[in-house]
Amino acid sequence: MEIKIKLFMNLFEKQSSEFVSRHIGPDDTETNEMLATIGVASLDELIDKTVPSGIRLQKKLDIAEPISEFEYLTELKKIANKNKVFKSYIGQGYYDTITPSVILRNLFENPGWYTQYTPYQAEIAQGRLESLLNFQTMVSDLTALPIANASLLDEGTAAAEAMAMLFNHKNKDHDHITAGKFFVDEKIFEQTKEILSTRATPVGIELVFGDYKTTEPDEKYFGAIVQYPNSHGSIEDYRNFIEKVHSVNAQVVMATDLLALTLLTPPGELGADVAIGSSQRFGVPMGFGGPHAAFFSTKEEFKRNIPGRIIGVSIDAQNNRALRMALQTREQHIRREKATSNICTAQALLANMAAMYAVYHGPQGLKEIAERVTLLTQTLAEHLEESGYELANQNYFDTITFKINNREKLTEISQAHEMNFHFSSDDLVTISLDETTTKNDVLDILSVFDSASDIDTSAVTFDNEADLNNIPDSLLRTSDFLQNPVFKKYHSETEMMRYLKTLENKDLSLTQSMIALGSCTMKLNAATELIPVSWAHFSRIHPFAPSSQTEGYDFIIKDLEKLLSTITGFAACSLQPNSGAQGEFAGLMAIRRYHESKNDTHRNVILIPISAHGTNPASAVMAGFKVVVTKCDEQGNIDIEDLKLQAEKNKDSLAGLMVTYPSTHGVFEEGIKEICDIVHENGGLVYMDGANMNAQVGLTAPGFIGADVCHLNLHKTFAIPHGGGGPGMGPICVNEKLAPFLPGKNNEGTVSGAQYGSASILLISYAYIKMLGESGMKKATEYAILNANYMKARLKKYFKILFTGKAGTCAHEFIVDLRPFKNSAGIEAEDVAKRLMDYGFHAPTLSFPVAGTIMIEPTESENKQELDKFCDALISIYEEIKSVENGEADKKDNVLKNSPHTLSVVTADEWNHSYPRSKAAFPLDSIRENKFWPAVSRVNNTYGDRNLICTCEPVESYVEVDA
Ligand SMILES: Cc1ncc(COP(=O)(O)O)c(C=O)c1O
Repeated sequence: MEIKIKLFMNLFEKQSSEFVSRHIGPDDTETNEMLATIGVASLDELIDKTVPSGIRLQKKLDIAEPISEFEYLTELKKIANKNKVFKSYIGQGYYDTITPSVILRNLFENPGWYTQYTPYQAEIAQGRLESLLNFQTMVSDLTALPIANASLLDEGTAAAEAMAMLFNHKNKDHDHITAGKFFVDEKIFEQTKEILSTRATPVGIELVFGDYKTTEPDEKYFGAIVQYPNSHGSIEDYRNFIEKVHSVNAQVVMATDLLALTLLTPPGELGADVAIGSSQRFGVPMGFGGPHAAFFSTKEEFKRNIPGRIIGVSIDAQNNRALRMALQTREQHIRREKATSNICTAQALLANMAAMYAVYHGPQGLKEIAERVTLLTQTLAEHLEESGYELANQNYFDTITFKINNREKLTEISQAHEMNFHFSSDDLVTISLDETTTKNDVLDILSVFDSASDIDTSAVTFDNEADLNNIPDSLLRTSDFLQNPVFKKYHSETEMMRYLKTLENKDLSLTQSMIALGSCTMKLNAATELIPVSWAHFSRIHPFAPSSQTEGYDFIIKDLEKLLSTITGFAACSLQPNSGAQGEFAGLMAIRRYHESKNDTHRNVILIPISAHGTNPASAVMAGFKVVVTKCDEQGNIDIEDLKLQAEKNKDSLAGLMVTYPSTHGVFEEGIKEICDIVHENGGLVYMDGANMNAQVGLTAPGFIGADVCHLNLHKTFAIPHGGGGPGMGPICVNEKLAPFLPGKNNEGTVSGAQYGSASILLISYAYIKMLGESGMKKATEYAILNANYMKARLKKYFKILFTGKAGTCAHEFIVDLRPFKNSAGIEAEDVAKRLMDYGFHAPTLSFPVAGTIMIEPTESENKQELDKFCDALISIYEEIKSVENGEADKKDNVLKNSPHTLSVVTADEWNHSYPRSKAAFPLDSIRENKFWPAVSRVNNTYGDRNLICTCEPVESYVEVDA
């Protein structure tokens, strides 16, 4: 009897923890084989050898045991139902929208799209590069400014990036600020004002708030920002203002709305220098704040200063058109302390959705949506006026503001009818319509307003043919947009579905093979983690909805804040930053404000080891700090002597240290506690970069080690997919000292438009933690370390492995040195990266943190079979290099130099190479079964940078090709 009960208990436990073995690749047999290859008796032994005993957690994390996928979804449904989906007329940068189902299913919910990495390896990323080029073209056309980037984090941060770009441009040739004032029109969105304030102060920008109509800028100004249409919905003619600003050699940023621009004279034609905004309403759900893609476009003169990623047109080795990330070196390294922006992860997946929305609807479809929205708005405005409400803005697109004296009653009745409006003050209500609004919705709004003022609703007529007299003639758009063929071809669902598939097929994602990118943690993004993001109870919630409607979100957010605090060993957490680098900035601002609170305003030096990721110094500069770079020793560890020297030398001005742990070299440095102590002894605080948290969870923790603040890349350790370059989330966790200085506390330090950043994707990390539980997460960390050490053990016979810990083990990643092959065979790291594509693999991280190397991070989600396939590929490449070294293969005409080999090259009638086609395409027999063909041959980087083209080519160029 007793035995029977035990058996059942075991089965029940298994039911709850089933996800753990779905997430973690190797099974028990594989684990034992791998341990034997490494030469250790157990996983415990490996971990003991790898993680210094002084930083090991002494007890388990206080986190519940795992629950099953089914249980999780059932529980979450209940929580979701606590959110109330009211009709949202709040606007202010967030609008309800219809995601075309063909895009929802084939892009947003498709791992072939969302598990892609940032398109650094252009040859296997032509699909998303094409889509992002469409995004840039769409933004450039609609704003009438020639250069656009491939997305920023949100509208507010895009505004801050624009401000910083203009500030740096104006003051770059001087050693002091010559023009430090930035005018901010009072009718831009409130959240944008807050973000501008956070970004302005540390770098010495003075914000001047006011009414653009009455302001008189002088030579002390470098720029200004206005909103078009503004936060009250009013369409203002800024031409005179722009001229006034230009006359003092300053520039104008226009925050704007893409849908409105289908009808309005675009910013570029009004004379604006930069246009920014959010593309959210192009089919991307509100999601309680995000993720959405912000856009940024500007004039030619700023093309080398534009923040973020730019996709450009270039050629490949066969002279065919090929796309790539332009000015890639500049972006990749973010130019360290000389950086003007720290944007790395952006919002690629959402930019792709918005671009596809434009492709699907085309210029005419978009215009019709805009006309319908504005016609309904006009009808609503006219009837509300008839009912006695006073309209505050005569010219408008989709947003109208009325003077009211019945706020309380209006709120009560509108809530009873499940609709939300925006009250900017007690006597002003703003209503924003969107593409989901119907005639019945307008009737419902009217009846709410009429009831609130005890009026009988008058008969409403909807006149399809009515003149649009809400937009002044002088601001009606006359220029064409989206004339490129791509915006005209895919309007049927069949065509759209095939277009999406064609692009997807060009790109290598996790659906094809492992993506072993060091520092990027391309782990499983499980379907159960992702499914709820599309549920209406999460996706259709406005970030400014009343808290009585967001109880579900509030529950998850509070719980997640607690869970992440527990995991990091800290006291508090902010879920606001939208990327790792944004977390760095927020964390450093917390340090800065802490010192200020102690009257230590002179503490302005941040120490950063030479091995740090480029975003570290870039964020430090943005937060107003001076960066002092410290050395690493030959083993890749922080040179503690040098660190001590610098800390003591800068003792009086030391603000802190930024450190990545385990290090960017993939090692658990033994001296980390001592390093933290040195910084503390000299008055500084320790910022820990959480990019490598995948090697810490459950084994150690930043707070336990001695750091004061860390960020977490939820798009690495906590399973948010990379989406081809975003979304991401970079929450920060802090100790008690820094808790009062988290973003948004006392309305200071805001870094994102929405309080919880891209709230809807927090669900993914929440699911990850709930379904793995304490034991599963710890196991995941151990397997991340096991998988890396197994690969290292297999590869070390062929390649030099740079940097290991005391016992010869690595953390969750390791660096393979390819530099010797340059001398011996003329083969460079890039050749190896490109040749891996012929084997069906994405290259590991290339030349970071050491030039001429690759950094491999397998993650826990890959099983031994996949790890072996990857090792076999690298070993086979090693043999190919040897053939070049010993003269069997030609130094120039070899499989590495000519890689990757496309289908059309391999099947061409002509073949002039010194090796057979089969060797080019199928270097290992196993590849035949599931061959992935790179879409283009090696892309020419220099050509692309010299001839920067970052929109789809003009229509004429297609005509020529056709001819
Ligand atoms: C070590 C390290 N720090 C910071 C970052 C920046 O994170 P994010 O791209 O989310 O801004 C990265 C990104 O890869 C990284 O590897």
